[in-house]
Amino acid sequence: MAADDLETIRAWRNHPNVRSSMFSTNEITREEHQAWFDRASADAARRLLLLERDDRAIGFVQFQVLGEGGIVEWGFYVAPRAQKGTGSLLSHHALRFAFQHAGFHKVCGRVLAFNEPSIAFHLKFGFLREGILREHHFDGSRYHDVFCFGLLKSAWHD
Ligand SMILES: CC(C)(COP(=O)(O)OP(=O)(O)OC[C@H]1O[C@@H](n2cnc3c(N)ncnc32)[C@H](O)[C@@H]1OP(=O)(O)O)[C@@H](O)C(=O)NCCC(=O)NCCS
Repeated sequence: MAADDLETIRAWRNHPNVRSSMFSTNEITREEHQAWFDRASADAARRLLLLERDDRAIGFVQFQVLGEGGIVEWGFYVAPRAQKGTGSLLSHHALRFAFQHAGFHKVCGRVLAFNEPSIAFHLKFGFLREGILREHHFDGSRYHDVFCFGLLKSAWHD
């Protein structure tokens, strides 16, 4: 991801379908987004990646190193009107980046319990559900369980 992509990513992130799946659901201003990008792109523990098809941006994924030995957490979304199959393409390339290119050992994902597409998505691509953090997220009016998923490099197939 480069500075030129900022407004595209902000529009996706602010789309109700994406925003409602995230841990913070407030609409992100241009200034907040710029500040996030400045911080995140200067942070050696983070990788911000854009997925393109035919020169068009179709998805965003970020990896954050959690600890020594290549244990990372990912977060992702596809362009709100992207065609079916875009998420699968994103998963394929993102996991290939993680395990082949970056040499990570484990990719983790934290998913709000109501986000059925993302739960099915993680299971489809080989993640195991490793635990449930009960009522671990408060959205301002309700508590939600958080599902923890993990995929080890040894269990990943390209
Ligand atoms: C999750 C997300 C990336 C899936 O993208 P997508 O383009 O729909 O993915 P695909 O069409 O390639 O589908 C891949 C799999 O995802 C799951 N999935 C996608 N949409 C689904 C839905 N509406 N209901 C249930 N499962 C769904 C299925 O397992 C699907 O495989 P299948 O078609 O064989 O059943 C996309 O919905 C998204 O960006 N959601 C908002 C952001 C988000 O939730 N990010 C993850 C935060 S943890």
